[in-house]
Amino acid sequence: MKKNLKELYIDYFVSKGHKEVPSAPVVPEGDPTVLFNTAGMQPLIPYLMGEAHPYGKRLCDVQKCIRTNDLDEIGDKTHHTFFEMLGNWSLGDYFKEESIAYSFEFLTKVLEIPVERLAVTIFSGNDKIPKDEVSKEYWLSHGISEKRIAALSDNFWIPGDVGPCGSDTEIFYWRSEEEVPEVFDPEDDRWVEIWNNVFMEFYQDDKGVVTPLAQKNVDTGMGYERVAAILEGVTDNYLSSAWERPLAKLVSIANKPYEGNEQSMRIILDHIRTATFIAADNARIKPSNTNQGYILRRLIRRAIRHARNLGIDINTNWDTELANIYIEEYKGQYSELEANREVVFEVLTEEKKKFSRTLEKGLKVFEKILESGATEIDATNAFHLYDTFGFPIELTLEEASARNMKVDVEGFKAMFKAHQENSRNTSKGMFKGGLQTGSEVETKYHTATHLLNAALKLVLGSDVHQLGSNITEERMRFDFPCDHKMTDEEKQRTEEIVNNWIKEDLVVTKEVMKKEDALASGAECQFPERYPDEVTVYSIGDVSKEICGGPHVAHTSVIGTFKIVKEESSSSGVRRIKAVIKDE
Ligand code: SER
Repeated sequence: MKKNLKELYIDYFVSKGHKEVPSAPVVPEGDPTVLFNTAGMQPLIPYLMGEAHPYGKRLCDVQKCIRTNDLDEIGDKTHHTFFEMLGNWSLGDYFKEESIAYSFEFLTKVLEIPVERLAVTIFSGNDKIPKDEVSKEYWLSHGISEKRIAALSDNFWIPGDVGPCGSDTEIFYWRSEEEVPEVFDPEDDRWVEIWNNVFMEFYQDDKGVVTPLAQKNVDTGMGYERVAAILEGVTDNYLSSAWERPLAKLVSIANKPYEGNEQSMRIILDHIRTATFIAADNARIKPSNTNQGYILRRLIRRAIRHARNLGIDINTNWDTELANIYIEEYKGQYSELEANREVVFEVLTEEKKKFSRTLEKGLKVFEKILESGATEIDATNAFHLYDTFGFPIELTLEEASARNMKVDVEGFKAMFKAHQENSRNTSKGMFKGGLQTGSEVETKYHTATHLLNAALKLVLGSDVHQLGSNITEERMRFDFPCDHKMTDEEKQRTEEIVNNWIKEDLVVTKEVMKKEDALASGAECQFPERYPDEVTVYSIGDVSKEICGGPHVAHTSVIGTFKIVKEESSSSGVRRIKAVIKDE
């Protein structure tokens, strides 16, 4: 192919009256509800809602996107945390007919994909919105056979839970050497989705109510790398030209072939690329325990773990060398990479140092066991390494084998299972009639409790944590370790800090994650053992992060005004605050 797919795509849509808009940054500007731009439409939400876009009603672009909800899928052939989405939009201009005609023409005429290798899905309808017979007719008119059109109930697209939305029609390609079956089976993963055309004509609010938008829009998205790999005839994206240089670099650093080491290599390649884009973003994200910083930390640490798996000496420059390749590859398109090259290197290097220290602590446990003369890591120790130092069993196995030690894996698994069941049962009991219910006022008190906990740490020191809490419609009570009666000044400062955070209208975000990851990320938790393996973590701006059953308010400004009404002794070394919130 002479021209790159990105150029062909933009040229085609420009020829159809679209204006190319520049990619927005990966960290959204002015939209605190999402951590990253996850789709090309994200920065366009106001315009899909009816605001006039300065470039007009027909737009196209290549948008940098980051999706981290399926981290465990990374390591396969087709998933990436960072990807570029090719998109075209109609903002109240053309609708289903032209959208389908453009997609069909681009795929079959410009990219010369044989129609025999294509299939589509359409929306099968629900109690509110009818089946999309219109799209079906257009596909038939282009020569897609009826047997290659599947109507599905989940062909409805919305960014998260709230926003512009509508039914969609997805285009699939037969990515296999085997003969193309006559009938399309969307469950057969040899059919891969390549393009999604969303007909955004509705808005869904936070109560799930769907109303028509002022205008009918089209929002389409095509994953660049996936389609580029298809056009190049490879079934593993990492073997396409987009990854050629980074993969060659990693193979030389590891001094190992790709074959046989695919999983770790894909994870490293993927994660270092995404980390490079996050660190280079002008939002200046640093690894931390909350929000984007936490994602950045996880990506870097996971890449380091896989680098160790490959036998790479992690204290060398393997990571910055790889990042440098990405900067070189993409700097022509995204100037922030070049401008922030040093920032990226510093972020990677600093985080590596920090992670090495945690690793060292865990490894000291190994040395102690060795010194004791044991030749095996028994189940209790394997579990201790997992629970306290975040060592996955694979890491324990590797470290043990390097010291000629055995590991009681079966015993570990049994303990792991018992622990899981125990947590599940306890949490069932705990959540019954516990935090998960509650009125609006109690919800505000829950969030205020997290703010108070965070404020007390600033005023009295980082040792403060929750020892007990009780909430009613009228007040909150909070017990914490402290060796003295709080002075008036300390109480006043605490109130001020909490009220300032309330005024700042910090966003409360909710994330479901593995408990070990939550704890390793620094999320606070009064009774870790009472929670199941999968926990909910609530972050308030970047001031607080706690494992908690919720519920919480979405933004702090709704809480009102916070006031401490009493500060007293609860028991030896434990103080108790009673506080109220008022609608002011
Ligand atoms: N917003 C849709 C998606 O992300 C189409 O671009 O799939």
